[in-house]
Amino acid sequence: MTDKNNMCDYNNANSDDKENIPSNTSNNRPFFNILETNLSRRKMVQGSLAAAATTFLAPSAMATGWGNNNRWRKKWKQQPKDLVGFKPLTIETAIVDSKVPSISDDYQYQVLIPWGTPLEPNTVEEYAGDPDSRPTPKQAAQQIGIGHDGMWFFPENNRYYKYRRYGYQLSSSRGMLCINHEFGRNPHVLGKEAPESLEDVRLAQNVLGVSVVAIGKNYYNDSWQTLNSKNSRRITVNTPVDFSGPAANSPLLQNPNGNIALGTVNNCGAGKTPWGTYLTCEENFNGYFGATEGESFNDRRTEAQIRYGIDFDGFNYGWEFFDKRFDLSDPDYINEANRFGWIVEIDPFDASQKPVKRTGLGRIKHEAIAIAESANGRIAAYMGDDQRFDYCYKYVSDNSWENSIDQGLSPFDEGTLYVARFNDDGTGEWLALTIENPVLAERFADQGELLINTRIAADILGATPMDRPEWTTIGKDGEIYWTLTNNSRRSADQTNAANPEGPNNDGHIIRMENSDDHLGDTFTWEIFILASSTRDTEQTFTDPDAAYADSQGRLFIGTDGGQPDGLQDQLVVFDTTQENPQPVRLLTGVNSDEITGFTITPDQRTAFINIQHPGNGDPLQTNFPAETDEFTIPRDCTLVITRKDGGIIGS
Ligand code: FEO
Ligand code: CA
Ligand code: CA
Ligand code: CA
Repeated sequence: MTDKNNMCDYNNANSDDKENIPSNTSNNRPFFNILETNLSRRKMVQGSLAAAATTFLAPSAMATGWGNNNRWRKKWKQQPKDLVGFKPLTIETAIVDSKVPSISDDYQYQVLIPWGTPLEPNTVEEYAGDPDSRPTPKQAAQQIGIGHDGMWFFPENNRYYKYRRYGYQLSSSRGMLCINHEFGRNPHVLGKEAPESLEDVRLAQNVLGVSVVAIGKNYYNDSWQTLNSKNSRRITVNTPVDFSGPAANSPLLQNPNGNIALGTVNNCGAGKTPWGTYLTCEENFNGYFGATEGESFNDRRTEAQIRYGIDFDGFNYGWEFFDKRFDLSDPDYINEANRFGWIVEIDPFDASQKPVKRTGLGRIKHEAIAIAESANGRIAAYMGDDQRFDYCYKYVSDNSWENSIDQGLSPFDEGTLYVARFNDDGTGEWLALTIENPVLAERFADQGELLINTRIAADILGATPMDRPEWTTIGKDGEIYWTLTNNSRRSADQTNAANPEGPNNDGHIIRMENSDDHLGDTFTWEIFILASSTRDTEQTFTDPDAAYADSQGRLFIGTDGGQPDGLQDQLVVFDTTQENPQPVRLLTGVNSDEITGFTITPDQRTAFINIQHPGNGDPLQTNFPAETDEFTIPRDCTLVITRKDGGIIGS
């Protein structure tokens, strides 16, 4: 079995899970006293119905969201009665063959857009995993990248926000898929440990970033495929970007050599705005920077560099030796790393749009983002900072998003960022990260500097250090789910009610209810499930990471970490409406992969999930999605999942 090395950490085992080594040395640690863990915490208040309209699958869309496939109409009635009623994939079946995924008998999958697929058909050769030849950097920039992670399906021909009030029918058979390419290790991408030229670095860079790819369903054979589209594009670490919000004009985002702002990297989880744009989250950006001067760099690191995990050898990608932007030793690029760690907004329907880094959402190791709409149109965005002992965040806009968008403004530019303090009695507070707080004004010159150093500001306010906050998702009644993937470094005397296990080897999920229709600065919370409680049962799962809640009460969780009982990483489904929800196994992946990035069509009949870093790139572990030949390089890919009877995904 693999160890607990989260592959989002991506490095090899002997680097000790480097990117998640705690960097939080604030007085918020060690924590509070040991307290009794109360798993059956009091029931949370029911959320308002208005909040239910926050998800992509809002009820109005559900009612009319048939796409253009009338065959589904008949099948609608055939859905099982249970919310999560499919035949679970058993442990026994799942572990028979780890070279290919295993799926519940009620389901089937199709492989879509593996790494190296032409972004648009017939534009460039496919890279199919031949270890003896690699794509050129130019080819890579026209192909689907590697490291498939967060993604979102945007139905064709509409911006949801413009049409939803008219009950516009959303396509479930054609649209733009925005998908993150989080990372690819040098041996997987380059076939060697380190780049030897700028050409190598450009290849390593061009397989990362984001793909905006047109996809559609072929009705002759029911399979999904890429399509030619003016909207398709690749975004990499070399694509020009804009900055927006309070930190946009900060001198801390400018370099002495005056280079323009370029690119996005380590795009992990994702989210979608109510106005129809895609949000990609920059997580372990620190790993791409290194210092050509070597280890002595670490002796002169700033407090902020240390807090963000910047160090001389990064994750050993070696970009700094050929691309000065990533050389921490080069005084010309002294603030380059400050340009990463943001959430970036991308328009799926305008390939000429410059991606925009939304500084109002703070600079952390952004995992993912889930947005809730309050009844008055203001939005709340929930976001995790994935590192051991880092924090949970929320952003609230000052104004209704529709008013802002109508005026050409961004709802992310005017609002307040908060960090969470979890109390042991099941309550909590959102602490405002604003320069109007004298304590923060003492430390930072302005809101821009504060946001660039979000983690330090949160330390000062006394936020609660968590067990690696990963994804967030909004449930059917407006409740928020937070996956806390694991924390092997939490000791028994550092536990608290919200992080009750020390060490926390298996992770847990927290369910939160925010006050005042998401706008209030208080919340209640409870432990939704401790993954360790499923050990030695048929339902066993650990290391929850990717999360997606649908509008009926299902919660889909993708895992990332060594699973018990010989299982590979999994996609499990919870019925959150039950008193004591248990995971139901829908799918398991292949050796050494991660299951991540759930998205679904408006009719809920097709889901997409990702197989990330299959076999860690080693052809002896798996050759998926190629036939098993112990030769072809395994390639990250998307799986299209359908019920064999055409029913709702998860049912
Ligand atoms: Fe990229 Fe924390 O997962
Ligand atoms: Ca990942
Ligand atoms: Ca993750
Ligand atoms: Ca993870």
